[in-house]
Amino acid sequence: MNPHHALQQVSPWVEAHAGLVALGGTVLDLAAGGGRHARYFAWHGRKVVAVDKDVSALAHLPGVTAIQADLEDGSPWPLQGQVFDAAVVTNYLHRPLFPDLFAAIRTGGILIYETFARGNEAYGKPDNPDFLLDPNELVARTLNQFVIVAFEDRYVDAPRPAIVQRIAAMKI
Ligand SMILES: C[S@@+](CC[C@H](N)C(=O)[O-])C[C@H]1O[C@@H](n2cnc3c(N)ncnc32)[C@H](O)[C@@H]1O
Repeated sequence: MNPHHALQQVSPWVEAHAGLVALGGTVLDLAAGGGRHARYFAWHGRKVVAVDKDVSALAHLPGVTAIQADLEDGSPWPLQGQVFDAAVVTNYLHRPLFPDLFAAIRTGGILIYETFARGNEAYGKPDNPDFLLDPNELVARTLNQFVIVAFEDRYVDAPRPAIVQRIAAMKI
């Protein structure tokens, strides 16, 4: 399998926790990119809103509403007033978005978040601390608003060697 194809595979972490989101539920896929998780949730019976600055891979996916937005240019949160049964964010970190992201999840709703963490510098990109979660950062950020269902901060060897931090949590 070529590396590009491997990166399009559904994250095992997302797959492992997708069952926390009820069938028919709404899922926000933030910085959805090629749409691997938007496609996965839509295929598995959820209604997906996928946001990215580049929606070329997201438009016209069945069951997916694509929203083109720059999430980092200081313009207002593009989903103002919308609340979802779940939010998934993978391989993306822009810390100023955390309050809006958490507010977009209903009480009882699910956050699934996975991205690179401190230590990843040893394996490649990203190596800029702006794009690497600090130790326990997803725990620290969610602790007062979520029940933590599962958390890891660890080395993985697939789809390529990396240090990732990942959480599944339920809004309280
Ligand atoms: C590494 S990709 C991850 C894509 C997807 N979440 C996944 O895991 O397959 C990062 C994504 O963030 C998007 N992105 C980067 N900067 C952005 C911005 N300022 N506003 C919106 N999306 C942005 C990119 O277009 C890209 O699709």
